[in-house]
Amino acid sequence: MMKMHTLAEKDLQHIWHPFTQMSEWMKEEPIVIVSGKGALLTDQHGRRYLDGNASIWTNLHGHGNAVINRAIKKQLSKISHSSSLGLANEPASLLAEQFVKVANPAAVYRDHAEGKPVNPRLEKVFFSDNGSTALETALKLACECAKRGKMGGAPRFLSLENAYHGDTVGAVSLGQVDLFHQAYSDLLFPTQKVMSPCCYRCPFNRAKPERADARTYRQCHWECVQKVGDLFDLAHKDRKPFTGFVFEPLIQGVAGMVAHPEGWLRRVAALARQAKTLLIADEVMTGFGRTGSTFACHQEGIQPDFLCLAKGMTGGYLPMAATLTTRSVFDQFLGSYESLKTFFHGHSYTGNQLGASASLASLGILEDPDNVVTRKALATVLGQQLDKLWKLPWVGDIRRVGLIAGVELVRDWKSREAWPMQDQVGIRVCREMARLGVLTRPIGNVIVLMPPYCCSKSQVRRMVSALTTSIKKVLGEGKL
Ligand SMILES: Cc1ncc(COP(=O)(O)O)c(C=O)c1O
Repeated sequence: MMKMHTLAEKDLQHIWHPFTQMSEWMKEEPIVIVSGKGALLTDQHGRRYLDGNASIWTNLHGHGNAVINRAIKKQLSKISHSSSLGLANEPASLLAEQFVKVANPAAVYRDHAEGKPVNPRLEKVFFSDNGSTALETALKLACECAKRGKMGGAPRFLSLENAYHGDTVGAVSLGQVDLFHQAYSDLLFPTQKVMSPCCYRCPFNRAKPERADARTYRQCHWECVQKVGDLFDLAHKDRKPFTGFVFEPLIQGVAGMVAHPEGWLRRVAALARQAKTLLIADEVMTGFGRTGSTFACHQEGIQPDFLCLAKGMTGGYLPMAATLTTRSVFDQFLGSYESLKTFFHGHSYTGNQLGASASLASLGILEDPDNVVTRKALATVLGQQLDKLWKLPWVGDIRRVGLIAGVELVRDWKSREAWPMQDQVGIRVCREMARLGVLTRPIGNVIVLMPPYCCSKSQVRRMVSALTTSIKKVLGEGKL
């Protein structure tokens, strides 16, 4: 190991990093982040990098944001934390009120003519610490509802192929990322998976793209929706209804930034509603403006029974999460003390005051109409810049929803042949991008770009330019 009497050395000696092959990690001096301002991070040598994946999809308005800093400092001067077990507090109460406001926009109720099903209202907020715990909360609540409510019977959950909902055991049971999860299969409970609408690799789409920049998904007859319908029909026939249908709305992150075709969610949500299955939306990645609207579900006119939030919830400052749900779910847990209907679940830092203050400040910035316009313009620039990548033969697909983008690298766009894992194409491209001053992490061979909302247009252009140069450098003629 190299000799370094530095912070990097201390890290190498003592820290075990998440999702990291430590034998690889220990070969090089790591980048040690010492400060951040806006979309820029600065390392131990004074080098500056653009935060190309918003610090693993958490940061919204930039690092060192003056408004959020002020809110946290103000709260610090009062109190940092007191328990939510038996006590209320100011910022958590105000935040819950704000969440109920923004999570029930008039638009999701307007569309429903008389006689059609009406979206439920999200009225209750259960706080926890991270995305995984937000999902665990929804799972446990839905599980209890199945047992106590009209549905009866053993709880059953339906989720999407290649889904990722976190690393706690319940969340892993809902997921299907073999690379991460297979090792723990003995710990998991069974869940049913259904086809994810990944148009780029759709088995029903036989139309080959003719030109690299005109890849439309033709010949679609919504077979992917039919697959969901078939499972609901079978569950009905077998009298084994699904308790909950768990999904990421509009785009599945860890699955490889798989953007769903417009209308898919609306269609499958209608099937779930018909089957009286609870809708559990994982907006851990998509929430708080990433896809365009504050919450992605609303772009398809859907209101879930559970809305799971984390990551961007505090603007990327502090670990805090929330699970929003309906009064009808809440009511099933009401009863006398001795009835034991209490929701016996929670964490030490539930409703933490510093996190809630950061979240309130972040929400204020997010909802500012000027910022909504700026975000939209930034997403357009990101799209325009990424469109230039279609020219590269190794770019198989470019998937973007709002300010979330994934670029899938393949051997050749015509064959769509994937690079084998051992070539580490994604890792190598991201390493090259880091040399050019842009930090991000790949998902296999998909390069993720998720700019913080405070980015300037030129910073977004720099991110895509670094990606372009890096792809050419790693994959250019004869390189692999
Ligand atoms: C969609 C989704 N759900 C849940 C999680 C888990 O969140 P956390 O890492 O905060 O537990 C993630 C994390 O990447 C995610 O992308």
